[in-house]
Amino acid sequence: MITRQFVDRQNLQEFHPFTRLRALLEDIPVGRSCLQDGQVINLSIGEPQTQPPAFVAEEIEKASTGWSKYPLSKGTPDYLEASANWLEKRYNLPEQFIDPTKHLLAVPGTREGLFMTALTVLSTPQKDTQAPVFLTPNPCYHVYTGAAAAAAAEVVTVSATKESGYLPDYTTVPEDILERTELCVLCSPSNPEGAVATPQQIKDLISLARKYDFVVVFDECYAEIYNETAPHSALEMALEIAQDMVGETTTETNTNFSHNSQIDPLANILVFHSLSKRSSAAGLRCGFIAGDEKWISMINTTCQVGGAGVPIPVQAAGTRLWQDEEHVKENRARYKQNFDLAKKILGQAHSVEIPAGGFCLWLDVGNGIEVTKKLWQEAGIRVMPGAFMSHANSKGTSPGDRYIRLALVYDPSFMEQALLSIANILKEIKDIGVND
Ligand SMILES: Cc1ncc(COP(=O)(O)O)c(C=O)c1O
Repeated sequence: MITRQFVDRQNLQEFHPFTRLRALLEDIPVGRSCLQDGQVINLSIGEPQTQPPAFVAEEIEKASTGWSKYPLSKGTPDYLEASANWLEKRYNLPEQFIDPTKHLLAVPGTREGLFMTALTVLSTPQKDTQAPVFLTPNPCYHVYTGAAAAAAAEVVTVSATKESGYLPDYTTVPEDILERTELCVLCSPSNPEGAVATPQQIKDLISLARKYDFVVVFDECYAEIYNETAPHSALEMALEIAQDMVGETTTETNTNFSHNSQIDPLANILVFHSLSKRSSAAGLRCGFIAGDEKWISMINTTCQVGGAGVPIPVQAAGTRLWQDEEHVKENRARYKQNFDLAKKILGQAHSVEIPAGGFCLWLDVGNGIEVTKKLWQEAGIRVMPGAFMSHANSKGTSPGDRYIRLALVYDPSFMEQALLSIANILKEIKDIGVND
C-alpha cells in the first residue's frame, strides 16, 4: 500500500515519535516498576545500554590535542582507511573498490548523514519536476520523513507489512511516481521490524534506481546485529552487478575488480554505517557514508557549509572501533540471548518472531497505543507504539497500529525481569479484551 503526502514543516513534531510518546504518557501516572530500585524501564529507544570498550576513552585521551582543531568534514585519513578496510573485510570487497578519498565520508552518526543526504539530494533535483519524490518504507525511522519535510519533497511511503516480509516493495510503485523520484531509502536490517533484504531485493532496487535515475540510500546501521546470518550490503550487490556487466565472476578473494570508466559500480547508491548500534556508542556520534563519488562529494559540501564534522579525538576512537571485532561479537551474543528470552517469556501467548537482524522486537499486540499506555501505567515500562513510527492513510490507519516496538537494549538479567512484567500485563489486557 502506498500513501502520499507533503510533510508540513510546521507539523514536523507530529512525525517525531518521541515527542508523541511523551505527550501520550505525560498525564498517566507511572506504575510501580518490577525492578527493586523502582527504576523506570525504557525500551522505547534504540540506545544500547552496555558500555563501549574501555579503549574508546584511551584513544580519545591519546588524541586529545585534536580538541583544539576544527575537523575536516571529510574525515581523517586514518578514520577513512579504517572504514574502507572494515567494509572490504566484512563484505569481501576487492581492494580499492571503496577508495577512501572518493567513496567515503565521515559523519557524526547516520542520523546526521541521512539528514544531510536528503537535504543535498532533494535540493539538487536531477529531474525537471516541480515536486521531487522521496520514497520511504512505512513504518520507518522518523529522520527519513523529517529530512524530506526539510527539503519540501513529496513523501511517498510504501507499506512494510507481514505480507511483504516487513520490507517495502518499491517495484510496485507506479511509474509516474518513479519518474519523479529523486531519493529512496531501504533500511536493512530494518527498524522497527528487523527484516533483512535478500540479495535479489537489493539488486532489484539498485536496478530500479538506475533505470529511473534516483539515489538510493541503504541504511545499514544495524548490519552487525543479526540472529544467524550476516546481512548482505548493497555494496556487495553493486559489485556483483558490475562484475556481471563486464563478464567477471565473483571469487573468494574478489581481487579481480578494477574501476574503469565504462561503468561506475557505485552509481546511484549510498550506504550508511554507524558505531552507535555496532559498538554501543550512540553518544560518540561516529559513522560514515560509502558510495557514489559524485554524491559523496556533494554531501561533503553540504557538511562543509553546515555540518559539525566528527571531532578528531572521536575519529581516533572510531578508527580503533572499526578495527575491533571482539566487542561486536559480544554485543551480538547478548542480543541473541535477549531474543531467546523474549521468545521464551512472551512466545507462549504471542506470536514472537525473532527478527533476522537488529535488536528490536516488533510485537503484534492488537492495539499498540492502548498497550503502550497500560505498560506505563502498570509497570513503568516505556515502549514505542508502532503507530508513532508509521504514516496513516486517508482512512487514518497505518501498518504500525497493531504493534509495539521493544528495544531489547539492556543486559539479559535486566531484560528478563522487564519481559516477565510485560508478559503479565499483556495477559491481564488480553483477559479484559483490550488488545483485540
Ligand atoms: C534505522 C536507523 N537509522 C539511523 C539511526 C541513527 O543512528 P546514529 O545516528 O546513531 O548512527 C537510527 C537510530 O536509532 C536508526 O534506527
